[in-house]
Amino acid sequence: MLNIALFGPPGAGKGTQSKLLLEKYNLTYISTGDILRREIAEGSILGMKAKNIIEKGGLADDEIIVQLIEQNITRDEKAKGILFDGFPRTVVQAYILDGLLLRLNTSLSAMLSLEVPREELITRMIERSKTSGRSDDNFEVIQYRLEEYENKTKPVADFYKAKNVYFPIDGTGTIEGIFEKLKETITSTLRKQWINVVLYGPPGSGKGTQAQKLAEKYNLVYISTGKLLRDEIRQGTEIGKAVEQYMLKGEIVPDEIAINVIEHKIKLHPEANGFIFKGFPRTIVQAYILDGLLLKLNQTVSVAIGIETSTLECFKRLSLRGKSHYKRPYDENMELIINRLDEFFTRTQIVSDYYKKLKKFTYVDGHGSEEDIFQRLVDRIDETLTTTGR
Ligand code: AP5
Ligand code: MG
Repeated sequence: MLNIALFGPPGAGKGTQSKLLLEKYNLTYISTGDILRREIAEGSILGMKAKNIIEKGGLADDEIIVQLIEQNITRDEKAKGILFDGFPRTVVQAYILDGLLLRLNTSLSAMLSLEVPREELITRMIERSKTSGRSDDNFEVIQYRLEEYENKTKPVADFYKAKNVYFPIDGTGTIEGIFEKLKETITSTLRKQWINVVLYGPPGSGKGTQAQKLAEKYNLVYISTGKLLRDEIRQGTEIGKAVEQYMLKGEIVPDEIAINVIEHKIKLHPEANGFIFKGFPRTIVQAYILDGLLLKLNQTVSVAIGIETSTLECFKRLSLRGKSHYKRPYDENMELIINRLDEFFTRTQIVSDYYKKLKKFTYVDGHGSEEDIFQRLVDRIDETLTTTGR
């Protein structure tokens, strides 16, 4: 999930930027200021309790705020996260937010803090008062709101700095310019999230090359079972000795051994942002195994991407490679190429159905230049990052 809190003094542009963020990202919007104004207009009990304080420019009781948030934080299945505007505003509220998100099995992705000098805040709000109809948009109340911000709200920043999710952003300049900065910060935050990608493609689709490039870009561990097994053989390990006979005969290596190798590789990279799997899972059994392996790390497959390349194109590429310096032993023989393609198209269909059912499957067009295909994959992964993850 993408959970953002927009932070900043009154008049910093939280409401303005919220509108743009909601257009761009599919989020549930929670603005405590808007909720309070609505409650007051409707004359609700909670609204009436808060009315006097708000009109003076003070902060409403945490007790009232937590009740209002609870009433409004419905889980919208379609939304990909929550955008908080004007909450949390006290350290107590920061703890409350942690608890609320924990219940939804998620956490705050970023607190984006709009920084604007005091004089400009006052100018903006005085200007807004001409049309806003907000009773707190007058000079005296504005002064008190700013004071409350300094005393009670500003300390909230430290709470999030300690969690490494606090991002100060210059809130002066054009609205569009500030929005660009917010988006950049969101993208880079998302890129730090864990992501596990399964990359599919028929032989010749370029999945090996692409997977390695993606691994570098997103700081993922590249896991190719074929390569891992060949490494074991080269190093003469116990596993290597065990698999050599299967591989020499062209037989499939038993799942137990593949699991072992993958698990070992996973453990070697605690610093990674996730994994990119190539050539695994190849069967439904392996898809279940992968889920189990990741679950042990409290992880899951984020997305399975298929590189859709026509049989003819794959055929052309493989036979071309067969005539080049990079040829693999299985590229030269036409019958072998056909067999490998055939095997892929029958097997993958089933495994991709597994991910389709989980709504985790997507594909990219595998025709065109290496760079074009890479860009398509990056777009898909960035999309996934905004919609999944913790
Ligand atoms: P709330 O409604 O949240 O008000 P606020 O925090 O004081 O912030 P504003 O809505 O005034 O400003 P904004 O940052 O949204 O700026 P905007 O985009 O409008 O809260 C109101 C009251 O409710 C609080 O005082 C408190 O009493 C109570 N309350 C709310 N939440 C609470 C909580 N959690 N706990 C306790 N009490 C709570 O922009 C301002 C103006 O500037 C606009 O006119 C805009 O058009 C303009 N503008 C925006 N960006 C730019 C730019 N880049 N350049 C020039 N002008 C710009
Ligand atoms: Mg606002």
